[in-house]
Amino acid sequence: MSVLEIVRKVADLRARTAQFRAAHATIGLVPTMGALHDGHLTLARSAKLDNVRVIATLFVNPKQFSPTEDLAAYPRDEAADAAALERVGVDLLFAPDVAEMYPENFSTSVAVSGLTQTLCGAVRPHFFGGVATVVTKLLLQALPDRAYFGEKDFQQLQVIRRLVRDLNIPTAIVGVPTIREADGLAMSSRNAYLSPAQRRIAGALPQILQETVAELRTGAPAAPVLAAAKSRLHKSGFDRIDYLELCDEQSLQPIPVARPPARLFAAAFIGKTRLIDNWPVI
Ligand code: PAJ
Repeated sequence: MSVLEIVRKVADLRARTAQFRAAHATIGLVPTMGALHDGHLTLARSAKLDNVRVIATLFVNPKQFSPTEDLAAYPRDEAADAAALERVGVDLLFAPDVAEMYPENFSTSVAVSGLTQTLCGAVRPHFFGGVATVVTKLLLQALPDRAYFGEKDFQQLQVIRRLVRDLNIPTAIVGVPTIREADGLAMSSRNAYLSPAQRRIAGALPQILQETVAELRTGAPAAPVLAAAKSRLHKSGFDRIDYLELCDEQSLQPIPVARPPARLFAAAFIGKTRLIDNWPVI
């Protein structure tokens, strides 16, 4: 088993990636905010299959949290994360601090219009600007051949695909299907916030999404199907629903009836914990 090396400076990351490239090794990049679970590790395993070298990044990006969100409380355990990454054979962990990523007078941001204005972007206006800026930086710092992102955050994946295309960043973006718990709940670092009672409620989200997908596949008009699904979510114990929408997978715009490529998107709160999920329709 290879030993995981940890670097904290962009210059050191660049020096190591230059060595990898000099040895004609392809590089796969797996950006994360840590508190790693099997979803993250599946991205790393996919990267291992496709590339000679795999770099994971660990950076809890303050720019994608609003002042009222959970930045300070976000789960952090670098030692456990490093051990898990080493077990799946990741070669290098880039774990910069905030000053390394955002030095004094940092003034630049990457904004992707359109795709970021719907779904999560409509309710968390700061979020995709922060994601787009940090992912652009990470891609330019590491210049990987491929970078891996989960379909669990489908809108994020599409935003990253768009920025890479628009800015001619020479990295292939690879989407990886969502990894789920036994009851279907999408794995998420934020699931750790749920009490045992809340965790039981959370299992209703993937179940209701799957039932809703089955109804939408019959060609039924989306509006009444989605209204009924929302009331089922409330009855199951969800406190607030940010959105439950049938959208075109490319434009992320709502559509009235399922037609390819359609996907169902949801974001809902149990107490203070916000869960998101999505499911392909056709
Ligand atoms: P984070 O939430 O740590 O997720 C890191 C990557 O793991 C993302 O690409 C996410 O989609 C993927 N992922 C999370 N849960 C997953 C699951 N259950 N199945 C499959 N993939 C899953 O997303 C971020 O961090 C940040 O926004 C980041 C891209 C790192 C930029 O800061």
